[in-house]
Amino acid sequence: MAILVNEKIFTLNTKNTTYQMHVNELGILLHSYYGAKMEYSDLSYASSKKGWNASFSPNIRETSYSHCHASEELSVFGLGDFRLTSLALVNHDGTTGCEPVYHSHKILKGKYAIKGLPAFYGDEGETLVITLKDKAYDIYFHMYYGVLPEYDLITRAVVIENKTESQIKLKKALSLSLDFTSGQFDMIHFHGAHMRERQLERTRITHLASTVASVRGASGHMQNPFVIVCDKNATENYGSAYGIALVYSGNFVISAEVDQHESTRVVAGINPEGFEYTLDPNDTFETPEVALVYSGEGFGKLSNNYHDAIRNNLCRGKFKNARRPVLINNWEATYFDFNADKLVSMAKDAAAIGVELLVMDDGWFGHRDDDHTSLGDWFVNEKKLQGTLSNLVKRVNDEGLKFGIWFEPECISEDSELFKAHPDYRFAIPNRDPSPSRNQFVLDMTRKEVRDCIFDQMEKVLKSANIAYVKWDFNRHLSDIYSAAIPSERQGEIYHRYMLGVYELLERVTAAFPDILFESCSGGGGRFDCGMLYYMPQVWTSDNSDAIDRLKIQYGTSFAYPVRTMGAHVSVCPNHGNARVTPLTTRGNVAYFGTYGLELDITKMTDEEKQEIKRQIAEFKKYYDLIQFGDYYRLISPFTPEESRYCAWQVVSKDGNEALACTVAYESKCTVAPELLKLRGLNPNKLYRINGSEQTYLGSALMNIGFWLDYDHFSYPSRLYHITLA
Ligand code: GLA
Repeated sequence: MAILVNEKIFTLNTKNTTYQMHVNELGILLHSYYGAKMEYSDLSYASSKKGWNASFSPNIRETSYSHCHASEELSVFGLGDFRLTSLALVNHDGTTGCEPVYHSHKILKGKYAIKGLPAFYGDEGETLVITLKDKAYDIYFHMYYGVLPEYDLITRAVVIENKTESQIKLKKALSLSLDFTSGQFDMIHFHGAHMRERQLERTRITHLASTVASVRGASGHMQNPFVIVCDKNATENYGSAYGIALVYSGNFVISAEVDQHESTRVVAGINPEGFEYTLDPNDTFETPEVALVYSGEGFGKLSNNYHDAIRNNLCRGKFKNARRPVLINNWEATYFDFNADKLVSMAKDAAAIGVELLVMDDGWFGHRDDDHTSLGDWFVNEKKLQGTLSNLVKRVNDEGLKFGIWFEPECISEDSELFKAHPDYRFAIPNRDPSPSRNQFVLDMTRKEVRDCIFDQMEKVLKSANIAYVKWDFNRHLSDIYSAAIPSERQGEIYHRYMLGVYELLERVTAAFPDILFESCSGGGGRFDCGMLYYMPQVWTSDNSDAIDRLKIQYGTSFAYPVRTMGAHVSVCPNHGNARVTPLTTRGNVAYFGTYGLELDITKMTDEEKQEIKRQIAEFKKYYDLIQFGDYYRLISPFTPEESRYCAWQVVSKDGNEALACTVAYESKCTVAPELLKLRGLNPNKLYRINGSEQTYLGSALMNIGFWLDYDHFSYPSRLYHITLA
């Protein structure tokens, strides 16, 4: 049993962790403990600091209890908790504040799902629902806790139910409030920009609130809805670390601060900025879920648990575990300048070296030859494709390749048939000129008729030909928010309703075409989050395809997301983004630790280059299971180049018998000290060989001493080391 209830003490146990709460004498649900697994005992003494009294914070009459000192599972603004809080609402009579107290609880078999929102799933899991009720009004808070013991994964979501006879307004409805009464913590977060996603930054959590957030209507490139809160001395393989991942793709906030009594609180959920939700009588509001993983063995273990949970219990569909095709995408090869003959010639050359699928990227629809037109017009430009889509697909299939296609379902160009017919379908604020971004606008996905219109068009295209893959792009984020279909007093619901609309459309399209592999994209990795992964099992990690910049991008991404979800392609040099020249092997090796594909004009490659790519495809396929389903370890960080000349990472089979390590060096120096690379995840007592060497190494030696890295005297060399049992 993962969930134990003893009187009013609630304990959630995973393989290696324990989370405990209790209801105190006032009926308040308090957090007692989250961390390393313990035998059952009452840990409620840990939920508040001994000896503290009000210290300028209000207390509940006749008691010494102050909301401001307590570790409340649902922390509320307005009644004396002056810290970060997770809930703020206004009742029908204009009064604020809320006092949720214990009402009931139940345990459900299996992990809960959330209406209209993505969530981890699993019949093997368990769910605890603790229902709280406001003391004064008939407002209920169903606190959902999901437990997937195998991955040390604990999820939380809140369902707010308005049983009053009037509307209430939610001003803030976060998914998580988590308190630590002791300890000093760092926050690791992943900031970035277009072409520079998920750059690791580590900061101390202090009395100054540390916040990562998005108001883009998408999780965005600037911050990722995932952080690690860890001991200040935690490393890859040492110390306590708490992962906090939002299963949501819209506006979010994750915030942490140390309070006046040196306790740390972390809150996470939908960003309250731009959010106000009116809840009708008998209606419910579901928060997105937050997925927590605790590791007492540093970040490596934490990442592995997220990777397994995401691969097995978040991603869905046929391609969750199946081998995905090696694809070639024509974007960097041709941009908008292509026709059917060009694509078929690429398919022909690609087939000869083992590529399995050709993706026709942006520019096949309406009259789109640049980024000014036609979004929203999802009908084939038969002039450009020199005939029907099905004819083109047949020609590509005849070359031996499957066919994939690009869509940007959420956007609209002013120069489009759709805009002419329905100018009100896009977001724009009345009396203001809406701001274009990449010359385009966002469709009002809160509206069913808009979603229907896009669905019908997509369905027609997807049914018209033998399509095996879809890239679902989103190349601008939300601004100028106003919906003609939503009353003025409910405009604060748009950002969230937008996400619900997008999720609904995604569910519809992916369910209608279960045999199609979907890849998510938003100007590269501008919406790389657990929410999107529920619908689409891989994401184009970044528009930056330079192997060296990719080291940081993929390394940062790996803290939460498995390599199997990271779209990674080999492109040409000089790189189109930064003009860097890197060896083709290095580009291949980096793309192996992702989905591996090509983003280049294969017809322009030399025979030697084609042979090298052919070798890579064969090698990638050889190591496919190891890379895609093994445990992933970060060995040397690209964020600390002063510590090593290399960036290195490694995958290890679940039984520890086989591993593949990859190194990339940044520069070539005249004199260099040789470096040892320490591996991880091996069996300490078994003997291994590296790349079939004569020499054998004990697993513990490889992990504690390491092995000598080869040195290559040219720029950006990369090596793969295949470690097998001797
Ligand atoms: C985005 C994507 C690219 C490509 C272009 C097409 O930038 O990230 O891969 O699909 O759009 O316009």
